[in-house]
Amino acid sequence: MNVQKEQAAQAALKYIEDNSIVGVGTGSTVNYFIDALASIRHRIEGAVASSEASAQRLKDHGIPVYDLNTVNSIPVYVDGTDEITQHMVMIKGGGGALTREKIIAAVAKQFVCIADESKLVDVLGEFPLPVEVIPMARSLVGREMVRQGGSPAYREGFTTDNGNIILDVHGLDLTMPLKMEQAINNITGVVCNGLFAMRPADVLLLGTKHGIEVMTSM
Ligand code: 5RP
Repeated sequence: MNVQKEQAAQAALKYIEDNSIVGVGTGSTVNYFIDALASIRHRIEGAVASSEASAQRLKDHGIPVYDLNTVNSIPVYVDGTDEITQHMVMIKGGGGALTREKIIAAVAKQFVCIADESKLVDVLGEFPLPVEVIPMARSLVGREMVRQGGSPAYREGFTTDNGNIILDVHGLDLTMPLKMEQAINNITGVVCNGLFAMRPADVLLLGTKHGIEVMTSM
């Protein structure tokens, strides 16, 4: 799987525009992308990062990291995923960076998802849905998730870069991901959830046994 992740990460370099600010996600696949990006760092202006961990890795490679508020446009955002369908709808947030990922994705013109072939699924939901929650609302949101048909699990010992907690929600029916994304966002105390249906990926670069497969929304 690591070879496939690395292949996908390398393939994403082709999408990077000269002199641009690159949106950079979070996770093990993105770590390969950051390492690859270092090889063309002289061609880009810098990056915005969806986590402190990615920001640090970018800086370690000598790539300038900007505050999103100082940036006018992001032509391309490159990030991994926990699950993705052929319609480019995703579950993200396994690494807990879902809120910042969603913010950068909302700014970016193009979302390039990089993944190994295990991430492509017919229906979302085998991977539990991460939900970022204000700490004092943990029980309230947990009860609401049960009402939605889910089984929430508190991610022990984890605090997001925004100072919040994560509930990993198992067993939800995600056959209507757009509706579910909006319904969970409407629960008081929820900061963000890991469904990317309102803002799906534009391109999927999938590392497979036979090389890179390029997919776009059907
Ligand atoms: C982090 C994410 C990651 O993109 C997702 O968890 C995939 O990670 P990896 O590339 O390590 O499999 O959403 O919040």
